[in-house]
Amino acid sequence: MFQSPASRIDAKLAVVFHSLGLPAHLARVQPSDRPELGDLQCNGALGGARDLRRAPRLIAEDIASCLRGDPAFASVEVAGPGFVNLRLSTAFLAACGADMVADERLGIVDEGRGRLVILDFGGPNVAKPLHVGHLRSLVLGESLRRIHTALGWRTHADAHLGDWGLQMGMLSAAIRHRAPELAYFQPEAGQSYPANPPVSLQELEQLYPEAAAACRADPERMAEARADTAALQAGDPGLLALWHALRALSLEAQVADFRELGIVFDALDGESDVRDAIAPLVERLLASGTARQSDGALVVDVVDPGDTHEVPPLLLAKSDGAALYATTDLATLEARATMAGLARVVYVVDQRQALHFAQVFRVAEKAGIAPGVELLHAGFGTVNGRDGKPFKTRDGGVAKLTDLLDEAVERAAVRIGESGHGAGLDDGGRRTLARQVGIGAVKFADLSGDRLSGYVFDADRLVAFEGRTGPYLQYACVRLRSLLDKAAASTVGPVVPVVDEERDLLLSCLGFAGTVSEAGRQLQPGILAEYAFGVAQRFSRFYAACAVIGEPDASIRASRLGLCVLTRRVLEKSLDLLGVDVPPRM
Ligand code: ARG
Repeated sequence: MFQSPASRIDAKLAVVFHSLGLPAHLARVQPSDRPELGDLQCNGALGGARDLRRAPRLIAEDIASCLRGDPAFASVEVAGPGFVNLRLSTAFLAACGADMVADERLGIVDEGRGRLVILDFGGPNVAKPLHVGHLRSLVLGESLRRIHTALGWRTHADAHLGDWGLQMGMLSAAIRHRAPELAYFQPEAGQSYPANPPVSLQELEQLYPEAAAACRADPERMAEARADTAALQAGDPGLLALWHALRALSLEAQVADFRELGIVFDALDGESDVRDAIAPLVERLLASGTARQSDGALVVDVVDPGDTHEVPPLLLAKSDGAALYATTDLATLEARATMAGLARVVYVVDQRQALHFAQVFRVAEKAGIAPGVELLHAGFGTVNGRDGKPFKTRDGGVAKLTDLLDEAVERAAVRIGESGHGAGLDDGGRRTLARQVGIGAVKFADLSGDRLSGYVFDADRLVAFEGRTGPYLQYACVRLRSLLDKAAASTVGPVVPVVDEERDLLLSCLGFAGTVSEAGRQLQPGILAEYAFGVAQRFSRFYAACAVIGEPDASIRASRLGLCVLTRRVLEKSLDLLGVDVPPRM
């Protein structure tokens, strides 16, 4: 079974620390801060000095002398106040490499053990086209889903559509002002309204901002929208029929956008799916004393003695009884909790909703909704324009997701033309390549770095073939693939690194499984993106320094091919977990 070099060395340290009377929790290595001095370092002597009342440097010497002589190490050195620097031996690295090569899962640990995780992401509202704000939720959510799957979880991706709120009333009010007969349509029994939606998708997409603006400007219109919303939620057949039609129309377009990004949801459930569960839930929270009246509304207090800033009560119901965002989330959670084996729900939603999720999670805990289920908010920062403000179109509107993707694809096509990539492809092949490169570039940029920070969307920079970009990684995979195709007839042997570039590449491949775990633990695909970039860079250095097919020594050639096979598996799996496609050639 594969075990990372670090965990194997930790096991050796545990024995040594025990024999020296040092605390077990200090028996740990970490990647070296100064790679020129070693691959790994152990700082345990510094922590143990107080207990043993001995100078850390002397303790480090003791640790080092126990480790020297172990064939896992090429060198063991003490440095500074008491660091132990470890250089791993070739034989040890080769043994780790052999175990990894033999493992179909590349060492990834089955942490999920078949438990179920729901990934709640995407979350578009009906009638609004997907915009740049949805991009990160979709891209991060899909990657987190793939990472969970790799770690042995069962996953369930749910878009949680915003389909039951005030925007529906705003729309029906707007349609009534345009064409009263449409908004007052009364379906016959069994008839689903309407065979032809009352507006086209394009009209709908224009109607929404108009409707919202009219409500903002005119209190009477707002009152009408609220009344419509309440009537819809109370089951008015005409409004329900209209709602069905508008929901279907906008969902079709949204699903097409999901597909463009390579995302398939297990469920396209929405707020409306729990509409009948809301009233009983509110009643129960009131009866149990969890909720209380406050100025005609119902609220739940969620303060915690440990709070450093004020957490206001969750608003459960307003006096007009309309369903509220938080209440819908609680009812949805209650419904989800009935799914067998549910152990975790991850909400991939804009960080600006952090308070909302803090409130919802606390009420869930207080009221025993979904007991034992781990609730996590994976928030993210905004996609910004070059001016550092949230990304807008040239005319200042909110950028639609498709416009953004089209721009990246267009830039990718230009780059491909300039750079000589895609030579030998026909027009259709070039177009497909430009799509894969453009969209891969957007996804990679979106996933890189800490999800909580915003990033600047600069189409030109992110489609570059050099630097920390999607295309750079795609190209590394394509080179590996074509190299291995050429060498198809050659023998692939065990990986035994000879030169530094091979050693560095092997060592970074060996970090793959640990990186996937860490990315999953922190819900940070960026950790994996950065790792994959590091592997690709080391591969470039290796490939520049070492002959592979042209290497005359048969066993070195076989080892290098083995290293290329492993690197290819690591990079392709990394990109797969990030949701980035690899073109067959470029
Ligand atoms: N529709 C919401 C919005 O546009 C996002 C939904 C996120 N998921 C959730 N369970 N609240 O802000």
